[in-house]
Amino acid sequence: MIREPAVPSPPKLGAVVLAAGLGTRMRSRRAKVLHELGGRPLLCYPLAALAALRPDRVAIVVGHQADAVRAVAEAAPGLGDVRVVLQAEQRGTGHAVACATDAFAGFDGDVLVLYGDVPFVRPDTLRRLVDAHRAADAGLSLLTMCFAAPTGYGRIVRDPDGRVTRIVEEKDATPAERAITEVNPGFYCVRSSTLFTLLTRLRPDNAQGELYLTDIVGLVARAGSPIVATSVDRPDELAGINTRAELARLEARLRTEVVERWMADGVTFEDPATAYIGPEVTIGRDTIVGPNVVLRGRTRIGGECRIDGTAFLVDTTVGDRVHIRFGSVSEGASIGDDSVIGPYARLRPGTELAARVHVGNFVETKKAKLGAGTKANHLTYLGDCEIGPDGNVGAGTITCNYDGFAKHKTTIGARVFIGSDSQLVAPVTVADDAYVGSGTTVTADVPSGALVVSRAPMRVIPGWSARRRARAAQNGKEPAAKVTPAREAVGVRRKRSRLRGRTKAGARARRRH
Ligand code: UD1
Ligand code: MG
Repeated sequence: MIREPAVPSPPKLGAVVLAAGLGTRMRSRRAKVLHELGGRPLLCYPLAALAALRPDRVAIVVGHQADAVRAVAEAAPGLGDVRVVLQAEQRGTGHAVACATDAFAGFDGDVLVLYGDVPFVRPDTLRRLVDAHRAADAGLSLLTMCFAAPTGYGRIVRDPDGRVTRIVEEKDATPAERAITEVNPGFYCVRSSTLFTLLTRLRPDNAQGELYLTDIVGLVARAGSPIVATSVDRPDELAGINTRAELARLEARLRTEVVERWMADGVTFEDPATAYIGPEVTIGRDTIVGPNVVLRGRTRIGGECRIDGTAFLVDTTVGDRVHIRFGSVSEGASIGDDSVIGPYARLRPGTELAARVHVGNFVETKKAKLGAGTKANHLTYLGDCEIGPDGNVGAGTITCNYDGFAKHKTTIGARVFIGSDSQLVAPVTVADDAYVGSGTTVTADVPSGALVVSRAPMRVIPGWSARRRARAAQNGKEPAAKVTPAREAVGVRRKRSRLRGRTKAGARARRRH
């Protein structure tokens, strides 16, 4: 039997992600990694990049708002063996990594260390760091980048031969060191055994009195081990977030990137600067998005749609060729092909509209299924109801779904016509082809094909108006006569003089007291 030569298995890859800090410069009670970017906590971004590398073990160091950060960490998909580690007191980035020592007991491999406040790192960049580290068999590897305005970052110090000798934090740097524009974005790769040994040698002898992770670079250099510094030429990718202004800048960048991606994919934005498209949203080709449109969550928009403007859609599925007119709001709804929504429509969760449905101005729907071609164009509340195809719901119709205790359902068949200003008191059914006369309060089931009317019969009383005036005149009341412009002027003069009189009378009265 011929044996295949044994292929050495690749070394294991571990990762430590630091997410324990409060982020003092955010001036917030919320832990920095919980602040949102594109509607998702910051921490989700580096974790997603890391997941693409399929690490064998990941430790996430939490501290401030540990439970909330833990929840985000544990919900991150694709990370495999995740261990959430508590850093009860934030004594610096070096101390934070040291907190993961036990989590890496028995682990032998390379460990990537990254910070939870750097959201745009790409999986390729992380891979490059690991590959460079392995190719050079380095003692430590790190990424560096050049920033013309490097404020806030640790500076990379090199010797005359260009070898990295250490990282100096801005607060500890001399003016000459501050002038260095090559900075530390905070990504390192070190063999696990080396990493956890070096961490025990850190000392808080610096301006912040912290255990700096960055000091391990100097320790490796002094020990004479090779350090591989991989320079990244897209510094935008590795920008960290320390302030609200930086958060807003990255939010704007993320927004621009998302919109540009959809434009490249065939979507028109009338004003890209005011389009707020979440990272998970999808939009079909030849759809036109007007100004001030917010699409969030798992919203899916079909092709050739038109969203006029000022719309807010969350978790909404929209078919093809749908027209969403100005000022519409939708959450948890689905809208069929060729439908027309708004202006000023509000679709609430559980709304399911089939094809060619019209939901017009000031119509609110909730848990409402509308069949193909059905129209509810004006001033209507449709809640907990099912309406068949080709129906017409008149203005001012209300499904009275709540009796003060529980919600009840209204069922309406196919081709039903509901006259304006009708109420359907649920639970109630109106069968196919029925006709509800306008102003009707439907309190019992209506059979197929029937007409139902509940309003009082109309009466016409000729001459009533004139007789009323005459009666009023007899009783000494002046009837409201037509006001001509001349009379109006006289009226104003009279009113003024009356007011003046009152004022004089008031003054006399006051003098008397
Ligand atoms: C750090 C680096 C700096 C680098 C910059 C890049 C150090 C000493 N400095 O500075 O060289 O240029 O990042 O963005 O590492 N954290 C903890 N526990 C702590 C302290 C921090 O978990 O005790 C976490 C924070 O939550 C954050 C990350 O570590 O996610 C970085 O901390 P931060 O305070 O932002 O460090 P920087 O001052 O930005
Ligand atoms: Mg930072």
